[in-house]
Parts: sequence; structure tokens; C-alpha cells
Amino acid sequence: MPENILVAVAWPYANAEIHVGNLAGSYLPADIYARYHRLKGNRVLMVSGSDAHGTPVTVKADALGQPPRQVFETYHRGFLETFIKLGLAYDLFTHTDTLNHYRVVQDIFLRLLEHGYLYREKQLMMYSPTSGRFLPDRYVEGTCPICGYPDARGDQCDNCGNLLDAIQLINPRSKIDGSRPEVRETEHFFLDLAKLAPQIGAWLDDDKEHWKPNVLTFARNQVRQGLHGRPITRDLDWGIPVPLAGWEGKCIYVWFEAVIGYLSASIEWAANRGQPDAWKDWWYDPAARTVYFIGKDNIPFHAVIWPGQLIGTGRLYEDDPSKRLNLPYDVPANEFMNLEGQKISGSRNWAVWANDFLSRYDPDPLRYYLTAVMPETRDVDFAWDDFLRRNNDELVATWGNLANRALTFAYRNFDRRVPEPGALDEADQALLARIEAAFEPVGALYDGCKFRAALGTAMDLAGEVNRYLDRKAPWSQIKSDPPAAATTLYVTLRAIDSLRVLLAPVLPFTNQQLHEMLGYSGDTLGRQRIETVREAEGKEHLALTYDGSALALRWEPSRLPPGQLLRPPRPLFKKLDESIVAAERARIGQTWGL
Ligand code: MF3
Ligand code: ZN
Repeated sequence: MPENILVAVAWPYANAEIHVGNLAGSYLPADIYARYHRLKGNRVLMVSGSDAHGTPVTVKADALGQPPRQVFETYHRGFLETFIKLGLAYDLFTHTDTLNHYRVVQDIFLRLLEHGYLYREKQLMMYSPTSGRFLPDRYVEGTCPICGYPDARGDQCDNCGNLLDAIQLINPRSKIDGSRPEVRETEHFFLDLAKLAPQIGAWLDDDKEHWKPNVLTFARNQVRQGLHGRPITRDLDWGIPVPLAGWEGKCIYVWFEAVIGYLSASIEWAANRGQPDAWKDWWYDPAARTVYFIGKDNIPFHAVIWPGQLIGTGRLYEDDPSKRLNLPYDVPANEFMNLEGQKISGSRNWAVWANDFLSRYDPDPLRYYLTAVMPETRDVDFAWDDFLRRNNDELVATWGNLANRALTFAYRNFDRRVPEPGALDEADQALLARIEAAFEPVGALYDGCKFRAALGTAMDLAGEVNRYLDRKAPWSQIKSDPPAAATTLYVTLRAIDSLRVLLAPVLPFTNQQLHEMLGYSGDTLGRQRIETVREAEGKEHLALTYDGSALALRWEPSRLPPGQLLRPPRPLFKKLDESIVAAERARIGQTWGL
């Protein structure tokens, strides 16, 4: 029975380009997981979009002297193009400024209000006398009251990761003009997390063996320490209006609404394909798995607050109080990726930008490297010498050369065909048996979000195939015993055919190349497209879509047909020159993303 799996991917703020830390943290692991499950024949829905609202975007707009809409549209379009180049196969990548998202967010807001999980309260907020306005979230910076970091933002400290309230900051300063803001009273809606806490806690205590220990510990500790109401509206006009009279000029807090995007994007996906109820297979069926790929700074929102929003909402668009929307099955948050030993920072331009990288290198080597060093359990470093070494020693020498030498040899010596094997000897059988036996454990590693280990296991097998080929030495066999050479080549090609499937979730582009060189037809990548989605009232938006309905590949060992006509072999990967390390290090800080 195919499973329904929602791959919910972090929504990038539309205020900066995508860098390698974003990719390694959430977008790439999500895509690997989704591609694996599609090969398994499961029904995958992978959704995300641009996070268009809130102070991250307005602060950037102020800095550029542009309206927020222009800023978010520019970055949104850029994301779509970057994700196509990287092969990040979102079934739908939309954004949070659509009419559909507004409606779902306002419906949830009103539901929570009706269910008694929202309350109004006067709150002390930072106000700037010089600007004549409130300074929500990122409009204030100052010293973190928890760790002492001097450049903490009003919403969260980048150093210790704690969520903050701007009025807690020591020595606060306005991001607009550097002046010192004062505290004033303003009325807001609060999400009653104290009231939701027992239900959130019970859910966190229940069957979470498959969760990463750090995510689970963090979430359980938050509940244990006591949850308090959090304001979910802001004195800001760039965002979703509060759907109540008298609340003009205030909008819904970006974090309250962005997480709702997972649901609204699923609803949009269903509507766009003319099956308006199709999203329910992932959100209503309790057997469906919803998996959230995020960076560790997002853990409180996904493992505590979003589950609270879901619990408080109950089942949306269906009045059955005994049923609810699916809560996260897993939140496999990743740690951070640094760059050459320093924290990646978009604003200080200490980053490797995806687009800039892809102007000089191919996508699969980037996907390979980021997976090989993925920050699954600890912070890691992107280092150019390590990228060079892994590209040359692992991707080119171990995997690319193996495929290239076997394919070239068969192409030249066996009439451009997969050779007809004779009887397989013990070594031949042992090699194929080992590789076929790897599908289950490697599959379990992908399913368990242990992508480094999945990749490592497949690459170890590639090493074994190399050793097998060297021992058999078909280049000698062909002179003394041509049928033996045919058998060796057949076994090698069949091993390669299996290995490329084991690697396909990580290396989709070169998998397609191998698919063709091995003589298969059809598409293994699926089709990504930028589409204009028409909304009501003449509005429209750009979205990325994916069609993986006719994939010519499955998660199963090779059954390579002897005699199949090969296509001309080409090298899969390029060896890189040592000199790129110094050149790339020197580029850091020089090329601004957009
Ligand atoms: N844009 C936010 C961030 O980049 C939130 C991402 S996940 C969301 O940290 F679903 F909440 F949007
Ligand atoms: Zn701090």
C-alpha cells in the first residue's frame, strides 16, 4: 500500500538569496527524502513557498528603498529559478501573499478565537518617538538578556537561538535610525499556549522514538518550563490583516501565518490540479506522515507552537470535534553549516550563494558535498578544500570513473551493447548479492533521514565494485578469454545500474545521464515548471510545480537486460583544479547574492 507522505519544507524569507547553509539545513534533505519516497512508490506531496511578510522583508525593503512587495517578488522569482537548477522538486513552491493563504490563515485565526485559544491583551512594545511608530521584532536590536550577544534581534537571538521579546533587550536601538526606543502600550491578540500546553505536552510524550534527541529534548523542555501566551499580531501593515473590524493597521504575526503555509500550500496544490479535496489525504488521514525539514533555529515554531495551532484549530473545513488535522510525524531539524570556520551571514556577506556556485559548478557535486557533510547531528563546516577533495577523490575517482570505464569498455568492445554474460562465478554472484541486499538498509537510512550514512553506504559499495573490476581485469580477460570479459562487464554494469538508483535521491541529474547511457528510455527526474497561477479578483502569482507521475525508475535492484543498446558514454563529473580553493576563498565576501 502506498503511503501518503507530506514533505513540509521551511519557507525562505524573501529577503535574501539562497546560500549553501539553507540548502544543507532543510531544502536538500527534504528533496532527498521526497525523491526516495517517490522511488518507493509512495504518494509524496512536497510543499513550501516564499515567506513574504513581516519585518525581515520590510527591514530589507527600507534598506533598499523599495516597497516590500517589490523585494519579495524579486527574491521569490529568484528562488524558483535556483530550485529548478538544483533539482529541488517541490510539488508546489508558492508564497504567503496569495488570496488562498490569506483565507486559510484568517479561517484558522477565527477558529482558534472561536475555540477560546486566542485572547486580547494590552502589551508593552517598543515605540520609536523619532519615527512615530511601533518597532516590532527585527526593528529593534540590542544585547541578548540570556547570552549577552550584543547584536540580538527583537524576535530571536542569533547566537543562543532563544526567542525574544523586543522589550527584553538590553540597550535597545532602533534599526531605522539607531535611536533608543521607549516602551508603550498597544493591544494585541495572543495565542493561549498555556491553555494548549497539556495537549502539546501529551503529544510530545507520545511515541517519538524516531525523533532526533535534540529536537525532542528542546521541545519537551519548553513545555516543562511552562508555556505562556504569545502575541500573534503586530503594529505593521505588511502582512495579513486581522479579520475583525477595528483592527485596521495591525496584521497577523509572520510566524503565526507562515507555518500555516504548509496547509494552505497543500490546499492550493489540490485546487490548482482541479481536485480541491486532494489535500485531505495528507492532513486528515491519521496514517499519513507529515515530516518537517527545518533548521534548528526553527525548532520552537515547528515542534511546539505549530502543533499548538493545529490542536487548537481542530479539523478545518469539517465540523467533527473528535477529529483533527495531522500533527507533525517528525521534525528532523538540522544543525548549522558554517563557512570556512565562520558562521554564515547573509548580511555580512559571509556565504556561498547557490546561484553563484551554479554559475561555475554542476548541481550534483554540490548536492553530493552538502549531503556528505550534512549537519545532521552537529554543526559542520563548508570548506572549499574539502569540497575539492570530495569532488576529486570520491565523486570523480570512485564513482564517476567506475561508471565511465565500464561503460566505455562495453561500448567499444561489445558492439555498443550490454554484454551477454556467461555463467556467474562466486565473485560475480557475491558482488551482485551484496548490492541487491543494500536496498533495504539504505532505504531505511533515507527514510530515517540519515542521509550521510545512506550516501556513505552507497559509496562504499562503489569502492567494492572498483575492487571487483580491478581484480577481474576485463582489459586482460578480453585478450585471453572474451566470454569471461563479457561476464565481468555485465556484472559491473548491472552493479552500476543498481548503485545509481541507491544514489538517485542525492544525485538525480547524473542518475538521468546514466539511465540514458545504460540504454534505458524515459525520464527519471520529473518535470519542474514555473507556472502562473490565476487567483480570484484578477490576481495571479508565480509558483514552481513538479510532475513526477511518470518516473521511469523504481527503488529496486537492476534487471539490466543483456543486449540492451548503450548510448555514447560521457564523463559524469569533472575533476577540479587545486587552484579553485584559493580562488573561491578569495571570492567569499566579494559576490553579493542579488
Ligand atoms: N522564513 C522563516 C525562516 O526562514 C520561517 C521558515 S518556516 C515557516 O526562518 F514555515 F515557518 F515559514
Ligand atoms: Zn542570546
